[in-house]
Amino acid sequence: MGKNIDWSNLGFGYIKTDYRFISNYKDGKWDNGELSTNSQVVLEESAGVLQYAQTCFEGLKAYRTVHNKIVCFRPDLNAKRMSDSCKRLEMPVYPEEKFVEAVEKVVKANEDYVPPYGTGATLYLRPYMFGSNNVIGVKPADEYQFRIFTTPVGPYFKGGAKPIVVRISDFDRAAPKGTGHIKAGLNYAMSLHAIIDAHKQGFNENIYLDPATRTKIEETGGANIIFVTKDKKVITPKSNTILPSITRRSLMYVAEHYLGLKTEEREIHLEELKDFTECALCGTAAVLSPVGKIVDHGKEIVLPSGMNEMGEITKNLYDTLTGIQMGRIEAPKGWIKVIA
Ligand code: PLP
Ligand code: COI
Repeated sequence: MGKNIDWSNLGFGYIKTDYRFISNYKDGKWDNGELSTNSQVVLEESAGVLQYAQTCFEGLKAYRTVHNKIVCFRPDLNAKRMSDSCKRLEMPVYPEEKFVEAVEKVVKANEDYVPPYGTGATLYLRPYMFGSNNVIGVKPADEYQFRIFTTPVGPYFKGGAKPIVVRISDFDRAAPKGTGHIKAGLNYAMSLHAIIDAHKQGFNENIYLDPATRTKIEETGGANIIFVTKDKKVITPKSNTILPSITRRSLMYVAEHYLGLKTEEREIHLEELKDFTECALCGTAAVLSPVGKIVDHGKEIVLPSGMNEMGEITKNLYDTLTGIQMGRIEAPKGWIKVIA
C-alpha cells in the first residue's frame, strides 16, 4: 500500500491514479485496447461528443474485502447496461466480455489505489465512451473512444450514514420516451442547474417526478429510491424513464432472500410519501443513503426514522449489501468478480 492517501477522510472526488484503459473504434472495429499513464484526452474540435453530446458512461467499484482480496460487484451488469446505452445513442457496443476484461486490467494496474478494508473508501471505476471524430451535420460519429479511469472515493453524501434532505423538483430529468433509462451524459448535464438550485435552497438532492404526469416518484439525479411501508415491505418505483440501478436490483434481492422481506416494484404516487416509514437513495456512488426528510413545495414530510440515524430496515439492507461486497457475507452466485 504505497500510496499516501488519507483513505478514511476521502470524499467523492477525482484523484488521478496511475493507469487508465483506452480502446479506439475506427473503420467499424474496436482495437485491442491498452493501459496508459496519460490521463489527457486530445480531440478534434468538432468531435461528436463536443458538438452533440454523444457520450455515455458507467460507474462501478472495486472493494478490498475482509480477506484482503480485491473484488468488483456485478461488472457484467454494467457491461450490459453500457451496451444498452450505446444502442440508444447510435454508438458501437463495446463487447461485454471485453468490458469485464478491461475492468479487471485497470483495477489490477491500480491495485495500490484500492483503499484498505475498513476505511469506508473504495476504488470507483468510470467506464465511458464518446464520439471522437469530426461531425457537423447532426449524425453519429464514426470513430469512438472507450476508456475506464479509476479514482478512490469515500461517501457520495458528506456525513455518510447521516440522513439527508431532498426536495421534489420542478425540473424534469427525462422525457417520456427519451433517455432516462440509459446512462447518457446528457441526462446529467440537464440535472446540473437543478442540483445547484437544490443546494442553494438547502437540499441535498432532487427527487424527480414522472415527466408525463408529474404525480409519481421516479428517482434522484444520481440514484434510485427505495421506500419501506408500514407493513415492512420494501418498494421502489416502476418506471421506464429511470435508470435501472444495479444496486437497487441487488437490494431488492437482498431484501427478499437474505432478510425475508416482501418487495414490490410498482408505481409510487406523490401523495403516498406521508405513509412510508423509511426512504433511502441507492446507487453505486450513493450505496444506500438514508433520507430523513422530503420537502414538497414547502410541505415537509419527515420520515419516522428521523434525521439522526438510518431506519432499521435501511440499516439491515445496508449492512447486508456492503457485507456481501466486502466479503463478510456470502454472495449470491455470480455477484462477486475476484480480481486479485
Ligand atoms: N440513477 C441514476 C440517475 C444514476 O446516475 C445512478 C448511478 O449509477 C443510479 C440510478 C444507480 O445505479 P447503479 O446502482 O447501477 O449504480
Ligand atoms: C454512480 O453511482 O456510479 C453514478 O454514476 C452516479 C453519479 C451521480 C456519481
